[in-house]
Amino acid sequence: MNTLFIGKIFYRMPVVDSTNDWLTARLVENPPEGMVVVADDQTAGKGQSGNRWWGEPGQNLTLSFLLHPRFLVPREIFYLNKLVSVALQKVIAAMLPDAEVHIKWPNDLLVNRRKVAGMLTENQFSGTKVKSSVIGIGVNINQQLFPEESYGRATSLAVVAERSFDRDEVMEKLLQAIEAEYLALKAGRRDALDRSYLGNLWGYQEKIRMRIDGEEQSVVLVGVDAVGQLAVEMEGKLRYFQVKEVEFLFE
Ligand code: BTN
Repeated sequence: MNTLFIGKIFYRMPVVDSTNDWLTARLVENPPEGMVVVADDQTAGKGQSGNRWWGEPGQNLTLSFLLHPRFLVPREIFYLNKLVSVALQKVIAAMLPDAEVHIKWPNDLLVNRRKVAGMLTENQFSGTKVKSSVIGIGVNINQQLFPEESYGRATSLAVVAERSFDRDEVMEKLLQAIEAEYLALKAGRRDALDRSYLGNLWGYQEKIRMRIDGEEQSVVLVGVDAVGQLAVEMEGKLRYFQVKEVEFLFE
C-alpha cells in the first residue's frame, strides 16, 4: 500500500462479525496507529444508532482502521468524521465525475442523493484525553440491488457508473486520501478541512426539508458547529441539533 502509515499493518479477512469489533478487540495488544482490517463479508456489520450495516458478500468495501488522535481533545472528536467525509467525497467524486457527490451530516456520503457510504467512529478515551479511535467505513462498490426496505435510499459506485470497480484500488485511494487529511489536521490545518467539509455538505446554505420534533420543517442549513452539531435556521432562529434529533427529507 502506497501510504506512510495507514495500512502498513493490514489484515484481510474473508468473514468477520464486524471489522470495528474485530479491531476493538485487538486494542488490548496496543496495535500501532494505522492498522487496517478489511473483510469480504460481515455477519454483524454495525451501522449508526445501533442499526445493522448490510451488504452482499464480496461486493463492497468494509474496513476499519485505527488512529491515535491524541492531538484532539474529546470535544474536537468530530474532526475525525470531517476528515473521513472529506476524503470519501474527494475519492468518490474523482471516480464518478458526472455525479453529484455530497457529504451528508454526520456520517454519510451521497451520490445523486442516495447513500453510497457510511462511517462509524468508536473512540476510546483515557481520562480527559482521546486515546484511540476505531473508524469503520462501508462503501457500496459493485452491489447492484438495494431493496429500499433493507437499505433505504442507497446506491453503489457500479450502479451509478454502469461499470464495476476494483475494490482494492478504491481502498488504496481512500486510505491515501484519509492519511493526507489526517496529517493536515494533525499539522493544524483545521480551516482548510472545515472549508472542504462545508463546501461539499449536502444542503449547505440552502433551504431544505427536515423532520424535526416529528414535524416537517423548511430550514436553512447554516453549518456544523465545533462539536459536530448541525446548525439550522428555523423560523428565524438559529438552532443546534444532535444526530438523532433530525432527519433529512428527500423529494
Ligand atoms: C452507517 O452509515 O450507519 C455507518 C456504517 C458503517 C459501516 C462500516 S462497515 C465496516 C465497519 N464495521 C462495522 O461493523 N461497521 C463499519
